[in-house]
Amino acid sequence: MRDSVLHRRYRLGGVTTDYRCAPTGLASLAERLGGRPAVAVVDRAVVRLHAERLAAVLRDGDGAPLPRLVVAGGEAAKTVANLERAWEWLAARRLTRDGVVVGVGGGAVLDLAGFAAATWQRGVRFVAAPTTLLAAVDAGLGGKTAVDLGALKNPVGAFHPATDVLVETDLLGTLTRRDWRCGLAETVKAAVIAAAPLFRDLEARAPDLAGLLAHGRADRVVPGIADLPWTSWIDGAVRVKGRLVALDFREAGPRRALNLGHTLGHALELQLGLAHGEAVALGLAAAARLAAARGTCPRRDADRIVALLAACGLAVAATPPPRRATAALVAGDKKARGGEVRWVLPLRIGAVDIDARVGLDDMLAALSG
Ligand SMILES: NC(=O)c1ccc[n+]([C@@H]2O[C@H](COP(=O)([O-])OP(=O)(O)OC[C@H]3O[C@@H](n4cnc5c(N)ncnc54)[C@H](O)[C@@H]3O)[C@@H](O)[C@H]2O)c1
Ligand SMILES: [Zn+2]
Repeated sequence: MRDSVLHRRYRLGGVTTDYRCAPTGLASLAERLGGRPAVAVVDRAVVRLHAERLAAVLRDGDGAPLPRLVVAGGEAAKTVANLERAWEWLAARRLTRDGVVVGVGGGAVLDLAGFAAATWQRGVRFVAAPTTLLAAVDAGLGGKTAVDLGALKNPVGAFHPATDVLVETDLLGTLTRRDWRCGLAETVKAAVIAAAPLFRDLEARAPDLAGLLAHGRADRVVPGIADLPWTSWIDGAVRVKGRLVALDFREAGPRRALNLGHTLGHALELQLGLAHGEAVALGLAAAARLAAARGTCPRRDADRIVALLAACGLAVAATPPPRRATAALVAGDKKARGGEVRWVLPLRIGAVDIDARVGLDDMLAALSG
């Protein structure tokens, strides 16, 4: 992961987000915190796997270690109970209005930490340090923070962009094969939406990706994967998201493109018990096949999308779950407006229709491949 160092600036909903990605991206944390009081909410997996590095970098501008709240990572992190725990911890730390909450972890811990920052003292600064590929390309940037409520995903949350996103790619080396696959699902999604060159770059490395990810145990680390050009790929995906979010922070229009694969994906995530990225890959593959069947996307492009997802070790077809339950979940998805579901479908690699009207039955038929 020695390919490059990246710094980009995005203006999101009135907040400037500085996005940095480098092998040792967290080295600049103390400088970014300056003299402000700061605390860290940290993913337990990262504490376990990178204790020494965290001890070195989780420090304030004066070099003092940041107080840490350690949270078990994964979707189970995003509970109201954990949020309450975080608030009580912030109260005990007496974090003041000028303070900073630093979130370190996967997307789940970042969503929790970001929402705690959004609500503590009516909103304190938030710095995000994504430690998964998915969080680096997606969850870390864009200002959406949330917790889950029972079976409902993200119903309670706030728009609260991080002032800084610091990705330390050296931390990604401990991710499991499943984590890499999931992060690649969102990376491919971004490429399909608006980054044909990124898609071609990924495609050019498809044999390498397949060799590392198409087979092998999902819960194991992937030796050799660090040699791929992650910084460049993360940059390509983040630029798509940054551009759309800057254009449409509150998701009135263009930002909806980012929901490609998600309307069906969220329903599948719950029904099939999949990880987020796995469900997104299925939703994306179904959307591509349906668009090709309707004649609104070239068949060749749809085939390339499905093939790239498969090279990343992602399932691209599934037996559709029961229709009624799926319909209820799709209609209940917060992205459905006024009772009518609008689907995002690819028009070609690099462009999407954000307002497609297609029936759920057709979408479910496309899911089975
Ligand atoms: N806010 C947003 O815009 C946004 C966007 C996309 C996804 N999300 C949310 O992000 C979550 C998914 O994020 P995710 O895919 O990062 O999953 P995750 O946060 O569940 O993390 C996956 C696993 O990886 C572990 N982990 C984290 N860093 C690691 C490291 N460096 N090495 C080894 N293990 C590590 C975690 O502890 C967890 O067990 C979902 O809750 C989703 O809703 C939010
Ligand atoms: Zn997603």
